[in-house]
Amino acid sequence: MITKKLILFGASNFGDEIVQLFRDINKSLSVGAWDIIGFLDDNPSSVGKVRNGIQVLGTRDWLATVNVTEFYFVCVVGSPSARASVVQFLQKSGCRFASGVHPSVIISDTSRIAEGTVVTAGNIITTNVIIGEHVIVNLSCTIGHYTRIGPFCTINPGVNISGDVTLEEGVLLGTNATVLEKIRIGRYSKIGAGAMVHREIPEGVTAVGIPAKVIKPR
Ligand SMILES: CC(C)(COP(=O)(O)OP(=O)(O)OC[C@H]1O[C@@H](n2cnc3c(N)ncnc32)[C@H](O)[C@@H]1OP(=O)(O)O)[C@@H](O)C(=O)NCCC(=O)NCCS
Repeated sequence: MITKKLILFGASNFGDEIVQLFRDINKSLSVGAWDIIGFLDDNPSSVGKVRNGIQVLGTRDWLATVNVTEFYFVCVVGSPSARASVVQFLQKSGCRFASGVHPSVIISDTSRIAEGTVVTAGNIITTNVIIGEHVIVNLSCTIGHYTRIGPFCTINPGVNISGDVTLEEGVLLGTNATVLEKIRIGRYSKIGAGAMVHREIPEGVTAVGIPAKVIKPR
């Protein structure tokens, strides 16, 4: 059986969920499997700890001690900007990336998910959706037709994205947020939990509420 060695960057509760995601993927495969080697984390105090049966191997400095091409990496840091910064470092270090889609996810043949992206249990992704690199799609979201999700976005649990939506790079959608059809949300904007977005949101702002209003300008 061919196994690929996987390292998760970001030792956190969400990281533990991604361990389970890849275990569930392994159960669904007839050949091949992911061998979860360990976590890396920038917090030195977490090094050596074991989470969900997986050890924290080191900080990012650990990469200098190994041949990185032996491994695949996924960055599971929740903040889009922090994740982008870690991924930039991993790319410079020569790392390659895995992606993971939970076996329970319903996804059309015409939708695409780029490398470094994880889609956890219970999501429904309809037709012609494109999800960019290093995106996190957390539990039980719906993502409608022709939606484009840029790199480094974080989609928290229970989000509903209607058709033809564009999320530019690094958008964060809080738990249970709703985005109506054809809306664009600008780079690195944050949408609060429970918000309903019915108008375009510019880049770099925080918007909350129903309907969503900008509370923190750029
Ligand atoms: C919107 C959000 C990003 C703002 O975070 P922040 O920049 O730290 O903002 P603050 O906590 O300082 O809140 C600013 C104001 O917005 C209000 N606010 C924050 N989040 C809100 C929300 N989701 N809906 C309505 N109002 C909200 C606060 O009460 C505060 O109001 P005040 O100034 O009148 O006291 C954050 O609250 C949020 O909703 N994040 C998503 C969390 C999530 O989905 N977690 C799931 C992880 S799996």
